[in-house]
Amino acid sequence: MNVIECIEKRHSTRSFSERKVEKEKLEQIVHCAIQAPTGKNTQALRFVVLQEEKEMQTFIKYCKYVLKREESPYYGANAIIFVFADMEKAITPLQDAAAATQNMLLAATELDLASCWIHTASIQYFKTLQGKEHKRIWGLENFTCLESCAIGYAAEDFLRKEKQENIVRFL
Ligand SMILES: Cc1cc2nc3c(=O)[nH]c(=O)nc-3n(C[C@H](O)[C@H](O)[C@H](O)COP(=O)(O)O)c2cc1C
Repeated sequence: MNVIECIEKRHSTRSFSERKVEKEKLEQIVHCAIQAPTGKNTQALRFVVLQEEKEMQTFIKYCKYVLKREESPYYGANAIIFVFADMEKAITPLQDAAAATQNMLLAATELDLASCWIHTASIQYFKTLQGKEHKRIWGLENFTCLESCAIGYAAEDFLRKEKQENIVRFL
């Protein structure tokens, strides 16, 4: 699969199987995130990969509790990758985090994994007391969570959404 095919294949999945994601694949995905461009090359992002079963269960339990949600906002994904930024150091933190996140989704697609970009839940969670405690434990008190990705093997395949084509003008 070349990059263009990978971009065309990528789509959000919201139903994951229990199959564990291989650690090597997660390492490759984060490696790709780190390769993303950052404004003025500040490289002020940090990544947390949640993949150990107990850690995941604890996180999802707190996440559902503090966000008052019955379903996991991560749809039962086997792995979650959080993107944190040092907001003092980064010049364009939102853009940097988005570029890194997109790289992760594409890398996951290349590795035959399913994925979904998760924004709201991660932002909200790390603003709560429990979320701040998680940041402390992870050594990221001074970082802000900007994005996250649910990653795993798909339980059911979602159809790729049709994209608009008629939104560009060449001059
Ligand atoms: C900035 C951003 C935030 C998103 N946040 C969420 C989210 O919190 N939960 C979710 O299920 N999907 C989220 N998505 C995924 C979009 O809903 C999805 O990309 C969109 O429906 C198009 O579908 P596709 O990814 O299959 O092309 C987010 C996507 C982006 C770019």
